[in-house]
Amino acid sequence: MANESGGRIDTVMHESRLFPPPTEFAASALVGSLAEYEALWRRSTDDAETFWGELAKNELHWFEPFGEVLRWNEPFAEWFVGGKTNLSYNCLDVHLDTPRRDKTAIIWEGEPGDQRRLSYAELHEEVCKFANVLRSLGVGTGDVVSIYMPMVPELAIAMLACARIGAVHSIIFGGFSATAIADRNNDAKAKLQITADAGWRRGKQLPLKETVDAALEESPTVEKCVVLRRVGCDVTMREGRDFWWDELMAEASDDCPAEALDSETPLFILYTSGSTGKPKGIKHTTAGYNLYTKMTARWVFDLKEDDVYWCTADIGWITGHSYVVYGMLANGATTLMYEGAPNAPDEGRFWEIIERYGVTIFYTAPTAIRAFMKWGDDWVTKRDLSSLRLLGTVGEGINPEAWIWYHKTVGGERCPIVDTWWQTETGGIMMSPLPGAIPTKPGSCTKPMPGIVPQIVSEDGTPVDTGFGGMLVIAKPWPGMLRGIWGDNDRYRKQYWEEVPGKYLTGDNARCDADGYYWIMGRIDDVINVSGHRLSTIEVESALVSHPAVAEAAAIGRHDELKGQAVAAFVTLRSGEASEELRQELKHHVREEIGAMAVPDDVRFTNSLPKTRSGKIMRRLLRDIAEGKESVGDTTTLEDYSVLASLRSSDE
Ligand code: PRX
Repeated sequence: MANESGGRIDTVMHESRLFPPPTEFAASALVGSLAEYEALWRRSTDDAETFWGELAKNELHWFEPFGEVLRWNEPFAEWFVGGKTNLSYNCLDVHLDTPRRDKTAIIWEGEPGDQRRLSYAELHEEVCKFANVLRSLGVGTGDVVSIYMPMVPELAIAMLACARIGAVHSIIFGGFSATAIADRNNDAKAKLQITADAGWRRGKQLPLKETVDAALEESPTVEKCVVLRRVGCDVTMREGRDFWWDELMAEASDDCPAEALDSETPLFILYTSGSTGKPKGIKHTTAGYNLYTKMTARWVFDLKEDDVYWCTADIGWITGHSYVVYGMLANGATTLMYEGAPNAPDEGRFWEIIERYGVTIFYTAPTAIRAFMKWGDDWVTKRDLSSLRLLGTVGEGINPEAWIWYHKTVGGERCPIVDTWWQTETGGIMMSPLPGAIPTKPGSCTKPMPGIVPQIVSEDGTPVDTGFGGMLVIAKPWPGMLRGIWGDNDRYRKQYWEEVPGKYLTGDNARCDADGYYWIMGRIDDVINVSGHRLSTIEVESALVSHPAVAEAAAIGRHDELKGQAVAAFVTLRSGEASEELRQELKHHVREEIGAMAVPDDVRFTNSLPKTRSGKIMRRLLRDIAEGKESVGDTTTLEDYSVLASLRSSDE
């Protein structure tokens, strides 16, 4: 929240507990002391180009060497200029002449309990075959492939196959609606769609192909569709457009050398909510992303050869891209994928999985941790979790209470916790403890990764004093940074680089304490975070307004014990009467338009909305009302005071 002090934010949180890395953990860690971390960070920022250049040479395979390390034409970065490499090669082929050839790359468990393991050699073979399938369907370098799949190994195979031939994947989370898929397909001009017949979720079949059929009616650029048989249900296959995955694979050769691709070849687009409503296609490219996710995975998770690593994120989000698939495989790690819900068939599923596979590193979201706490300790404590050695969180801030619960109940007080702060745009983790080096404080993401220079600034761009909150910016380019918004360079520049000239605007507020620890304080704008998923107010509002009965709508995030935030919507009607029936209809409508996670928990009908004199809805006031609080903030720009009074008196 901005105030008279130029955007500086006062902090009310005082958390003084400090958890040093356990001695044993530090003794075998890649970075084993604070002094070592500090020396590494200093070296990385004193001469960033030498630092990243050396890592790139040593860690990636180059078909042709790069020249310049960084060409920075603000805000456009090119890393490892002119080099030729291949991400699929760096995740697979590099391991084939080593003992990792037969090491498990992916452990997979389906929701009904089916299990699979793919070694690096097997994964390589599947990826080569599917890359040939893509080619046989006319997909080449630069073509966009839209992927709408459940959490199955074939999703990772499809990604790696795209990367192998230079096709650009655009993965759309399996909970999105047909309209959301079509919007993304059209923005990206996707050529091919990949999906499955259905996926499992809490014992039910999610009809993915049916949703895709509706999306493809509105996606004129998509020519063909590949369908994986996951559950074996009946689906409609359109002759000439739709093809079965297994039938294509049966014909495909497993010989597919990785293409030598320019460092800056687009690798993927991932859509994220923006404050103006239209989803932004965040663009990432090959070499920089490859190096950054590889190095951060190694630093943060302190990977050892025999680790069994499990990140519970869906691959449809950036966490899944970077730390289920690419960052892990580039390090030759064993990564576990689970298809279903944490409470299927019961609330003990995750702990059962950890016990069954001897998971050593567990990376999940605060919203999940809050659910585990609610479900009760017994589900956790009745399983043997002694294999765990490191825990992580991502997606939103973790409150100290949940942190301590995680530490004690899951980690048995022996596992460090890495609270990792980053974004779809940053490609990889930006701030996090290195678990053998940095003592942790519950609720703080601690310190920056090597090469990362965060700053906290006020609205005029000047640094704020230690201990005060302000806007979090990043002062230097880094290899994993987004390269733009797909098809919209202007929006990229405006959104991320103009507000604080020369610095990347994260959109989050944060503060840095006297020990140099960072504390994230939330979004500057109004994006709603439901269970770790960012939803823009405008997207929810647009969905509501597309219903014939609705004239105007405002959506805000109000506090929710379990989900972090729940969506609350304020709606003015164009016609008809406010009724319970209409309320349910509107919720259903949002589900159809955007997906289940955007459905408002509250829908309130009102005659008018509080607005500024220039006509902007004042969401801050609505948030106060939704949470039953008095408005203490500035209301001088409010156009009509009677609106607040009438909203309050209609409180349910
Ligand atoms: O507000 C921050 C919050 O999630 C935003 C990024 O969301 P997204 O692009 O969906 O990526 C999520 C996974 C990387 C951030 O701007 N956020 C993420 N991690 C944390 C966090 N807030 C506090 N602490 C975190 N560890």
